[in-house]
Amino acid sequence: MMAVLEVQDLVVGYGQFPVLHGINFVIEEGEVCVLLGLNGAGKTTTVSAIAGLLKPTSGEIRFHGKSLRRRSPSARVKDGLSLSPEGRRIFPRLTVSQNLRLGAWSKRRDTRQARQQLDLVFGYFPRLAERGNQMAGTLSGGEQQMLAVGRAVMSRPSLLMIDEASLGLSPTLARAVWEATAQIARDGTTVLMVEQNAGALPFADRALLMEKGTLVHTAVGDDIRNVNLREAYLGA
Ligand SMILES: Nc1ncnc2c1ncn2[C@@H]1O[C@H](COP(=O)(O)OP(=O)(O)OP(=O)(O)O)[C@@H](O)[C@H]1O
Ligand SMILES: [Mg+2]
Repeated sequence: MMAVLEVQDLVVGYGQFPVLHGINFVIEEGEVCVLLGLNGAGKTTTVSAIAGLLKPTSGEIRFHGKSLRRRSPSARVKDGLSLSPEGRRIFPRLTVSQNLRLGAWSKRRDTRQARQQLDLVFGYFPRLAERGNQMAGTLSGGEQQMLAVGRAVMSRPSLLMIDEASLGLSPTLARAVWEATAQIARDGTTVLMVEQNAGALPFADRALLMEKGTLVHTAVGDDIRNVNLREAYLGA
């Protein structure tokens, strides 16, 4: 197996306060990995550093074997690294289709490819297809989350990171977003999900459990569905 992402001794903080205390993990090609932890564990800090939005204090992040240290956030998107951010960050006064097309900015010279990618996203999220000309700000919470994930898919990432897709969604809608995510993965995109909701576990091949800026456990296979695991680490 090939590592898509390697995170080594990563230390990240805000000002002088470290939040991540030297974490290590690898994401293998084709897997769906979920980074699980409670409020404030450091999950958003982790994906923000990987996306280039926060500068690490120390440590190394490699993407397809190459150091990301000198890559800007936009260069990382062009490289195939895409983040659907916490809080969705869609453009409320643009339509669904306009929001999605903005997600393809890194491929803007190839409109045919952008069109194909748009069709693919509409396939994952038929609700977005029905609402292509609707103002994004008038979508329901679940639809806005679909739009945020869809927009991140528009840049044709090899690694898709999704920060808390389930936040504020009903269990049914959360499952719909996770199911679409699993389909995106089956179509060849490696996925790193961030969640504090243990309901995401059945959709993942592997779970990394984070507590207070440290990775405390890795779960695969049956362990993922282990109830004790949920109790121990998530208080579920
Ligand atoms: N801009 C910031 N300035 C200072 N501290 C911050 C900042 N952003 C986050 N932190 C702190 O870093 C820690 C980790 O935050 P982070 O957002 O990474 O957690 P999280 O695991 O994503 O939590 P949640 O599930 O609530 O989104 C928290 O203690 C938080 O207060
Ligand atoms: Mg967060």
